[in-house]
Amino acid sequence: MELLTVNQELCVKCGICAEVCPNGIIGMSAEGPQMLYEPACIACGHCTAVCPVAALDNVKAPLSKQVKLDQYPVINTETAYAFLRSRRSIRNYKKDKIAQEKILQLLDIARFAPSGCNSQGLSYVVIENPEKLKKITEATIEWLEKQIETNVEWAKPFAGLAEVYRKTGVDVVLREAPYLIVATVPQEFSLGHDNARFSLEYVELYAAAMGLGTCWAGFVEIAAGAQYKPILEAMEIPDGFAVAGVMMLGYPKHTYQRLVDRNPIKVTWLA
Ligand SMILES: Cc1cc2nc3c(=O)[nH]c(=O)nc-3n(C[C@H](O)[C@H](O)[C@H](O)COP(=O)(O)O)c2cc1C
Repeated sequence: MELLTVNQELCVKCGICAEVCPNGIIGMSAEGPQMLYEPACIACGHCTAVCPVAALDNVKAPLSKQVKLDQYPVINTETAYAFLRSRRSIRNYKKDKIAQEKILQLLDIARFAPSGCNSQGLSYVVIENPEKLKKITEATIEWLEKQIETNVEWAKPFAGLAEVYRKTGVDVVLREAPYLIVATVPQEFSLGHDNARFSLEYVELYAAAMGLGTCWAGFVEIAAGAQYKPILEAMEIPDGFAVAGVMMLGYPKHTYQRLVDRNPIKVTWLA
């Protein structure tokens, strides 16, 4: 079956579909658009979604699954700026449970983040079992201590963190977050880690809009990325899969009152 179908009655032969195609594999002829090289189609759906008259269909990105964009209001720059600038990493959580449907709604947005060649390819593990979460914190500290013992340079400044945990039992790793989202990818999937970054950042932003709080769990990510078995076991990561991103989740305990400043932007213009 051909990937592209053109409705000749509707097609105005404007060529926009060919122009937006990421791989340049749509050519224009007197009959309208033509797929030049099917194997290179990455199913991104740009060609079908951009068509002003809905004349084009693509088996890999069917029109029937697309939603008319005019159903969604475009946010203005002030709202977008305030929203992006007010997002914070949340490190104190209420104990409240989040309904499973709400977590699914949150994770669903991750599907729409950019991914290399539209490869996507992520799966998620959501952990809410308190014993498992404790094990992950404990194993992460254990792993950090091993790095410090063996003189791994980057780990040394974090000796204090491990010490606080050992002395006080305060969860300095997962901040007693009631949920942990773990993004996993097939081990050999080279784009997986970048894809996970963008997908989880979509989750982080959407969480803020949903009244939820998140925080990247960087130490857990590094330890799991180094294949530290106790962490992978606690997360029940199947063989052949790797952890590509980890994020705490819960209802925020506190509300921020002010926006902070950051380092000034550095820009070089090459005219
Ligand atoms: C890759 C990455 C890893 C991070 N790891 C941790 C972490 O392990 N623990 C933590 O409390 N915050 C972590 N953070 C959050 C940063 O500390 C935070 O983004 C930064 O201080 C700016 O604060 P804000 O996110 O509230 O604006 C991480 C952030 C990123 C992007």
